[in-house]
Amino acid sequence: MIQNKSNSENDLTWDEIGVPASTRFNDPYFSRDDGRAETEHVFINGNRLPNRWPKMSVCTIAELGFGTGLNFLETVRQWNEIKPDGAQLNFVSFEQFPIKTDDMRKALSQWPELDKLAAKLGELWKLEFEILEEEFSADIRLVVFMSDANVRLPQLELAADAWYLDGFAPSRNPELWNEELIRTVFEKTAPGGTFATYSCAGFVRRNLLNAGFTVEKQHGFGAKREMLSGQKAP
Ligand SMILES: C[S@@+](CC[C@H](N)C(=O)[O-])C[C@H]1O[C@@H](n2cnc3c(N)ncnc32)[C@H](O)[C@@H]1O
Repeated sequence: MIQNKSNSENDLTWDEIGVPASTRFNDPYFSRDDGRAETEHVFINGNRLPNRWPKMSVCTIAELGFGTGLNFLETVRQWNEIKPDGAQLNFVSFEQFPIKTDDMRKALSQWPELDKLAAKLGELWKLEFEILEEEFSADIRLVVFMSDANVRLPQLELAADAWYLDGFAPSRNPELWNEELIRTVFEKTAPGGTFATYSCAGFVRRNLLNAGFTVEKQHGFGAKREMLSGQKAP
């Protein structure tokens, strides 16, 4: 279902290995060391999803920053391998500056294992919209709010089992890591729910702790020494 068309420009630059960066934020969308492997390490394993999925009949993942859709597609790929029979995945994401479909296709083209899923996402992403709400497959529902997460998230009824906190670098995109938004993320987390992020910036860690999450430092991906993950008390 496509609702309320809108338009928002977002120009990209590309490095020599095909990683896109935002000109608005002057920061890449994913790691130059292999974005797919970063998604697996930071977000999927950081939220311990491969251990949790076999015991879940419904899993709701929420994300700040849909970007190229890489996190979503790699999550779908792994979910399809692990999910219990009859289980449902809900993926809810926020994106204030959606990229063009051709840019999305180009960004995702470096991973043959995501080809089919990327083609499917590309078909859904054709138009400009404010809310994308689709049955991506029989057991996967995708909702992307094409607006500022600071505005949209507080309005939603949501109890996420896992959060992917994936704004651009906190120094360049502080509006996606601010104290009030992180408090709202905590409020919109199910008891026992988790978060993971590639960032270990001091103010991000403090905002997560002040909101009520337990916070742990983990080994980061690629050149990043550390990352953060944590939990809301069960
Ligand atoms: C590092 S990229 C996300 C990469 C993405 N998860 C992926 O798999 O490709 C950060 C994203 O956050 C978006 N963003 C920045 N500020 C935002 C805001 N206030 N609300 C919603 N999205 C925002 C950017 O446009 C960008 O797409």
